[in-house]
Amino acid sequence: MADKTIDELCAALVAKREKAALGGGEKAIAKQHDKGKMTARERIDAVLDPGSFVEIDEFVEHRCTNFGLDKTTFLGDGVVTGYGTIDGRIVYVFSQDFTVMGGSLGEMHAQKICKVLDLALTNGAPCIGINDSGGARIQEAVDALSGYGKIFFRNVKASGVVPQFSIIAGPCAGGAVYSPALTDFIFMVDKIGIMHITGPQVIKSVTGEDVTSEQIGGARAHNSTSGCAHFFAASEAECYAQVRRVMSFLPSNNMEEPPYKETGDDPARTDAELRNIVPTNPNHGYDVRDVIKKVVDNGDFCEVQELYALNIVTGFARVGGRVIGIIANQARFMAGCLDIDASDKASRHIRICDAFNIPIVTFEDVPGYLPGLKQEMGGIIRHGAKLLYAYSEATAPKITVVMRKAYGGSYLGMCSKDLGADVVLAWPQAQIAVMGAEGAANIIFRKEIEAAEDKGAKRAEKIEEYRESFANPYRAAQRGFVDRVILPEETRPALYQALLMTENKSELRPKRKHGILPN
Ligand code: HXC
Repeated sequence: MADKTIDELCAALVAKREKAALGGGEKAIAKQHDKGKMTARERIDAVLDPGSFVEIDEFVEHRCTNFGLDKTTFLGDGVVTGYGTIDGRIVYVFSQDFTVMGGSLGEMHAQKICKVLDLALTNGAPCIGINDSGGARIQEAVDALSGYGKIFFRNVKASGVVPQFSIIAGPCAGGAVYSPALTDFIFMVDKIGIMHITGPQVIKSVTGEDVTSEQIGGARAHNSTSGCAHFFAASEAECYAQVRRVMSFLPSNNMEEPPYKETGDDPARTDAELRNIVPTNPNHGYDVRDVIKKVVDNGDFCEVQELYALNIVTGFARVGGRVIGIIANQARFMAGCLDIDASDKASRHIRICDAFNIPIVTFEDVPGYLPGLKQEMGGIIRHGAKLLYAYSEATAPKITVVMRKAYGGSYLGMCSKDLGADVVLAWPQAQIAVMGAEGAANIIFRKEIEAAEDKGAKRAEKIEEYRESFANPYRAAQRGFVDRVILPEETRPALYQALLMTENKSELRPKRKHGILPN
């Protein structure tokens, strides 16, 4: 070394860097491209602001000698890690490099991931993980398993403190799936992202079922059926744009407020068309996203889990530049009733919003919980309880807009005053009651209806009587369960006023380790 000039030493470093940047080598990179996949570094460049990535640990190598592995080492050990920015804000990132031993995870690979997770947590910034891996590096045995354990532990430690994003852009199988599952959002790329516990061959040998990887682990399967993923992307480019968009609604950590953005949309803007979207007839459907888009800034609504549990809509938007989280019953599907999947989807979103200080706005039009054997035996009691739990637990501002139906237990389940709603607004066609007028009249006026000569006429009369008395917002307003009955077109200004009013909300709860979430 002493004999070498500084230029020679620098040239050696540059050469080493170039070697590290090639991962598994040019042939393996070509193979990766042939599969329609970007390389680990291309992916990082696509998700971060251009030129902002700073790599760390690029010269880390594994130290396993089993099965001749000491003859196969690669600089970086199959994962690219570091930090950079998204819209100028620091984020940490790791991206598994499939060109190096199939992106398999061993001791040092895991140590690199743990380092960025630790940095993200210590420095209060989000972490993005890009998964493309054959799983535990088989030669490293228990060291590889231990690596996963250390990652899971950190995912949990960081949960609710810094946002964590997982992108599935290749295989992610076996226990490896549990790191993404412990993070806040899973983005899957169609055709190349596969996530399952056991693959088709194992399933065939154990249960005899014939399934394809796509069927059990594809982007569509997890976005629309299992509910394990939150975003579906047709391409990698679309996926990274989605990540950047979701990030724009989240604070860097739980001690910050979500990022304010000047949107140029007047918060006092009213929209007369809001009168015509929700029919006054409670049996008629509509698309609640039409309401949301009329109310939020520039109609810009970022939907989360768009393809799953279609009877409830969740997402992020802004009103007057302030971020809000949205939970809305979707009357277009199953009349917007609550079931197991809708309860799971909504309660998770509520907890994410609450963890990151995002006011929760609920658009309510709910006929009740879905009846049936499948729901009861599927555990609607414990799943439905999650919704009550999440709303009651949340201390972020909670604003509820009762648009139409708010019946029975589901009235409470959609953030009533009693679950701690700070502001409850209701539209004139709101019906806050134990049940719909028809069901109610059939029960409480049963004897009168049966005794009548013209049963049909009597039933109609009694239904109308009940509707007049209870199926409106004014009984609830009389008791203060509704703070304001507003015209539909006043919704946006009313929401903005409520956001300003609750801006400094501070609510202390009894000290405890943690609650016991029904599951
Ligand atoms: C070591 C691995 C590996 C692994 C792939 N490779 N997976 N090396 N450990 N887990 C290597 C291959 O040997 C190959 O090396 C290179 O990566 C590319 O793999 P290919 O098979 O050529 O790629 P492809 O055809 O695209 O298939 C990808 C794959 C397949 C479907 C992921 O490689 C595969 O099935 N791998 C094994 C998956 C697995 O069973 N993992 C363990 C899961 S259990 P060469 O040198 O030939 O290029 C697990 C437990 C975690 O992860 C528990 C946590 C709690």
